[in-house]
Amino acid sequence: MPDTAPLLDRIRAVVGDRGLLTEESDTAAYTQDWRKLYQGRTRAVIRPANTEELAAVVTLCAEAGAPIVPQGGNTSMVGGAVPNADNSELVLSTARMNRIRDLDPVDMTLTIEAGATLKAAQMAAAERGCLLPLSIASEGTAQIGGVLAVNAGGNNTVRYGNARDLVLGLEVVLPDGTIWNGLRRLRKDNTGYCLRQLFVGSEGTLGIITAAVLKLAPAPKDVAVAFCSLESAAKALELFARVQAYDAASIGAFELMSGLGTDFVLKHIPNAVLPLAEKAPFYALVELATPRPNGGMRGAIEEILEKALEDGVVSDAAIAESDAQRAAFWRLREEHSEAQKREGASVKNDVSVPVSKVPAFIAKATAACEALIPGVRCVPFGHMGDGNIHFNLEQPEGADPAWFLEQDHAIMETVNAVVREYDGSFSAEHGIGKLKPYMMPDWRGGAELAIMQRIKAALDPAGIMNPGKVLP
Ligand code: MLT
Ligand code: ZN
Repeated sequence: MPDTAPLLDRIRAVVGDRGLLTEESDTAAYTQDWRKLYQGRTRAVIRPANTEELAAVVTLCAEAGAPIVPQGGNTSMVGGAVPNADNSELVLSTARMNRIRDLDPVDMTLTIEAGATLKAAQMAAAERGCLLPLSIASEGTAQIGGVLAVNAGGNNTVRYGNARDLVLGLEVVLPDGTIWNGLRRLRKDNTGYCLRQLFVGSEGTLGIITAAVLKLAPAPKDVAVAFCSLESAAKALELFARVQAYDAASIGAFELMSGLGTDFVLKHIPNAVLPLAEKAPFYALVELATPRPNGGMRGAIEEILEKALEDGVVSDAAIAESDAQRAAFWRLREEHSEAQKREGASVKNDVSVPVSKVPAFIAKATAACEALIPGVRCVPFGHMGDGNIHFNLEQPEGADPAWFLEQDHAIMETVNAVVREYDGSFSAEHGIGKLKPYMMPDWRGGAELAIMQRIKAALDPAGIMNPGKVLP
């Protein structure tokens, strides 16, 4: 990269001192991903206050040919928001652009800027009796712009779809600094290519999402949550099928946890308690919810579980009696990643298969990984209701963490071979980032990757937008 001082002077003139961080002590938090897979370097982190400033900065970078790494809450699972290590990329943070522009309870829409956290967006919706039906473990830190750029999935996909299903409109700054204002809130708008969906899931490689119009749902007023123990993943599938047949529309979430993964949570997370008398090989967290007050969710879950216990599908179950207990059940699920991190080195496989194939996939992948690395500890968990299993592997006890992490490609290949047998996906919700572009030719090669490359070349011919991410 040529001397950046003149460029940074011009950028400072746009964003002011407050919008530009250049000291290493100030930029450090922006150069490493939370999993600590990548340590980057940058000459500056730019923090514009609004879309116009951001567009002016992108225009200056485009003129100078300076590569930009867009960053929201920096919670990527795949290193999608960190700069490379050679100090050649500037980080563009949306953190200061966090206004709620509008909430319309009749249209059921929330118009919000990229830097608002997902949690803040959920709270804004809740204040007006609505629900933003997207929930992920990192929601307190993850920002809307990043959540949409990576098309986050999470716990409620089974009912409401992924992030992309909630987007009605977008405002985007293109790699040449052009602002595209597509902040429409129409339920029907059939006017040519659906551009907003091009940017959702592009992981910042085609432009920077600066604001969005999101679909809301009515807030649930009657919620029931059960924590169930199961002998096997096959029994969990049977339970899911029963809940679905009973009332698919009221399923808020159906999450699977392994006994071992839950043991890690109980061991490492303060105050985590198993709400059942005995441990089990698998657990399911089932949430039913309806916007109708006194909507009968408690009765529904009791009826389903009574029959399932009787038929030997479920071994035991607890139903939350209060909001606090509901939150405690959810913590056992949500703290899985954190507990794995504290237990030692772990390799993540964020994969999906058809829901009906989840048990077979778990069995085969477990056998394959145990054959590859004796003593490895498989921790499958996740969003069973939509077929997205986090088939994470924890290092063997006592093994060298660095050695284990070096096996990551071999592990991912082993798991992915099983995923392929079931026509699944090698990245269900975490995206591609910096970690997985090398897998793209194998999985999405031919016409699919060629189309993506042509789109990239058309929108970002100089390749300055989040280089090295998504595409090989
Ligand atoms: C989750 O659902 O908790 C995360 O997406 C899983 C992970 O850490 O692999
Ligand atoms: Zn997940």
